[in-house]
Amino acid sequence: MQSTTQSVTRSMSSEFELANTSLVDRVEAMLERYCAHSKQHARLLNTLSMLEHIGSRKIMATQSGKGLDQPTLKHLAEETRHAFFFKRQAERAARHSLDYSEKSLAAPAAARMYFQRLDASTARTLGRNAIPKAAYLYMSMVVEFRAVWLYRLYQAVLERTRSAFSLRSVLAEEDRHLEEMSGALKTIGALDAALIERLCCGERRLFERLLAALERSVDGFALTVLG
Ligand SMILES: [Fe+2]
Ligand SMILES: [Fe+2]
Repeated sequence: MQSTTQSVTRSMSSEFELANTSLVDRVEAMLERYCAHSKQHARLLNTLSMLEHIGSRKIMATQSGKGLDQPTLKHLAEETRHAFFFKRQAERAARHSLDYSEKSLAAPAAARMYFQRLDASTARTLGRNAIPKAAYLYMSMVVEFRAVWLYRLYQAVLERTRSAFSLRSVLAEEDRHLEEMSGALKTIGALDAALIERLCCGERRLFERLLAALERSVDGFALTVLG
């Protein structure tokens, strides 16, 4: 059963890659621009930290209670660690401590909106009768697809720019989360590739909005600081 789940996950990952091909050049260009200047890079890293924190807070808010199992606690701990990892790298790049206030982030409103709308659209698509655990697993799965896709591109840019840090450990965990969410959906009899593709399609539209906001933010920063 595990190998079946893995092959379903691999096939969904390939479809995700294919559906996002047109975004690769734009994302690489955006990442390269942020990485070119340490203050800009710090804002991007801090934004990723905030997104990881929102993700972990969401797990805590929806999964706390009698049914909280060890895999979910581990997922929560790892997403919290990712928020810490990106915050630490952000502060190293900035050379001072950073909070999550507007001036320390890149496109903060769009980043928060991305999660809120994804949450709302997932709940809408699943409908009122969906069991709460399925909503958590589907939402996580869609986010993990994006995280793995984005962090792979980011890691390649970090290697090209000879960055002092690597995303390899975060990437390995996100990859494993994808398999775990898929396996858990299979266990409760809810692994529905067509539904996940629909959710990913909606997520892509939201990610495009976030990407556009990140591009505008780096443009604005270049004008005020570098111009
Ligand atoms: Fe994460
Ligand atoms: Fe994850």
